[in-house]
Amino acid sequence: MKNVGVIGGGTMGAGIAEVVAKSGSNVRVLERAEAVDAAQERIATSLARGVKAGKLSEEDSKAALDRVTVTTDIESFSDCELVVEAMPEIESLKLEYFHKLDEIVSPDAILATNTSSIPVIRLANATKHPERVLGMHFFNPVPVMNLVEIVTTLKVDPAVVEKVKTYASETLGKKTIESKDQAGFIVNALLVPYLLSAIRMYETGFASAEDIDEGMVNGCGHPMGPLRLADTVGLDVCLPIAESLYAEFSEPQYAPPVLLRRMVDAGYYGRKSGKGFYDYTKK
Ligand code: 3HC
Repeated sequence: MKNVGVIGGGTMGAGIAEVVAKSGSNVRVLERAEAVDAAQERIATSLARGVKAGKLSEEDSKAALDRVTVTTDIESFSDCELVVEAMPEIESLKLEYFHKLDEIVSPDAILATNTSSIPVIRLANATKHPERVLGMHFFNPVPVMNLVEIVTTLKVDPAVVEKVKTYASETLGKKTIESKDQAGFIVNALLVPYLLSAIRMYETGFASAEDIDEGMVNGCGHPMGPLRLADTVGLDVCLPIAESLYAEFSEPQYAPPVLLRRMVDAGYYGRKSGKGFYDYTKK
């Protein structure tokens, strides 16, 4: 892929842009004017972290950054062979951009979504070529987490699936797994009820946040506990995923706990806002 587009330069979009740029492609990232600098900064900071961690050279980091253009101009995506949409989990917003992209890119370009939980076929149907639309679900933090879930739909062309699988594994160096198109796919369908159970446990006062997290880190060998992980993913991201899962399956395990809703209402989004189940403003 010579030119790849990423729609959205938030946590996930910036991470996807970084791994694509490191693989040698030119990357265009679409952002709102007021968020362009922050997206650019996010990518530069993570690349610098990679250099500090000894994962890439200063020279490769600079070359990767030079391949990234953060822009407000969606028309400049016309020569992209692949576009990955990584916007907030708002279906109407995603539909609008799939419709726009379909008009802009060439008919054989591949359109992928990084949605965490929205059925991909709904986004595919916003285009005239649903056979070239599929899910490419990355994990946070994208430069570190090794997985991409490839989500197929009832309409996707199997050749597109094979091409994207090969690209994700051979070019981006990620492990791929394939999932059918149901809300949450494989990983979030398992992970999110676990995070919600931890929130419910904390909500009832049964145990402290620290003890719940220590339990799973030290008792089960998880790299971080569920409440810290929810803070890292973003509570504003966890809530719509839970809502999508509940809308899809109508099972109580997916119903968002009231506390999660209230924390999102309060603007307590977790690590990104400085407060979630933990306070990130303290040094
Ligand atoms: N670029 C390249 N490498 C980096 C890097 C960067 N920007 N930042 C860190 N690294 C490397 C480090 O060098 C280190 O490598 P090593 O193991 O070879 O030494 C490794 O990544 C871990 O980094 P740190 O030592 O700095 O940090 P921790 O050991 O504290 O690990 C973590 C951080 C990887 C985030 C770990 O806590 C973890 O795995 N947490 C769970 C994350 C998780 O579950 N993510 C999935 C969320 S669900 C999701 O995303 C789906 C969505 O739809 C909601």
